[in-house]
Amino acid sequence: MKAESIFKHPNTLLGEGPVWDQQRQSLWWVDIEQGTLNELKPNIKSNRVFKLGQMVGSAALKAQGGLILALQNGFASFDPDHNLLEMLESVESDLPANRFNDGKCDPAGRFWAGTMEIDPINPAGNLYFFCPNRMKSEKKLDNIYISNGLAWTKDHSLMYYIDSLTYKVKGYRYAKKTGEIKFQRDVLTLDKSLGIPDGMTIDENNNLWIAFYDGAKVCCFNPLTGVLLDQIDVAAQRPTSCTFGGTNLDTLYITTAAKENDPFGGAIFAAKPGVRGLLPHFFGA
Ligand code: BGC
Ligand code: CA
Repeated sequence: MKAESIFKHPNTLLGEGPVWDQQRQSLWWVDIEQGTLNELKPNIKSNRVFKLGQMVGSAALKAQGGLILALQNGFASFDPDHNLLEMLESVESDLPANRFNDGKCDPAGRFWAGTMEIDPINPAGNLYFFCPNRMKSEKKLDNIYISNGLAWTKDHSLMYYIDSLTYKVKGYRYAKKTGEIKFQRDVLTLDKSLGIPDGMTIDENNNLWIAFYDGAKVCCFNPLTGVLLDQIDVAAQRPTSCTFGGTNLDTLYITTAAKENDPFGGAIFAAKPGVRGLLPHFFGA
């Protein structure tokens, strides 16, 4: 199946972090390198751009409204209705070569987000969560190259995680109450010919949808058997992440990054693969 390009902002460099907002019927996404948060309303094809003044790796919805963001050097809260950005905690401001990348809320409402070297050579990144009760972060993993896709199973017992340059999806036992994770096994070891595994989402059947940067596709795998179940071809070379959205959660939205001589690089794509996704978890819920 082929994904359809539904929107393209001419300035997009690194489109990332799609989050479906059922209440606003919006797809939030970030352009990490332009430092913008975007609210795309697919039904009316309008896209509102919020300039944050610094790089932004990812965003998640807050239970009380607004968003929590992983900026270049820490966590912040953003109120899109009043254009208010409030820094919550500075993290890794002592590591100017690093920035935050992909992030998502867990089933208990903690915001997990990881870092990477801006020019990724060393495993200098870390994975954190920002806890809504203590309003403070905790480091969960270190030695990461490019912190990317995160997903939790429907029964909340497992967390899946991608460090892109390992070409693996790792599975962790996850304790919802404390946020503790314990490495369980390498769930998928991906062939390099597919591209670089980047962002990820999980569907109602607990299968994983992974965007392949420089691979022009999103692939669906059964994490228990490792079997490739489906492939969505994307006209852009660099798909970066995906999430299910639309009123019925049956549309897979895909973000992409720009690349020289790629006319579709940076566009947002959509496809209906015939399965439904899950609503995102809210920060602080
Ligand atoms: C990062 C990019 C990186 C890409 C590779 C993205 O999440 O933001 O900088 O090149 O992953 O997978
Ligand atoms: Ca990513």
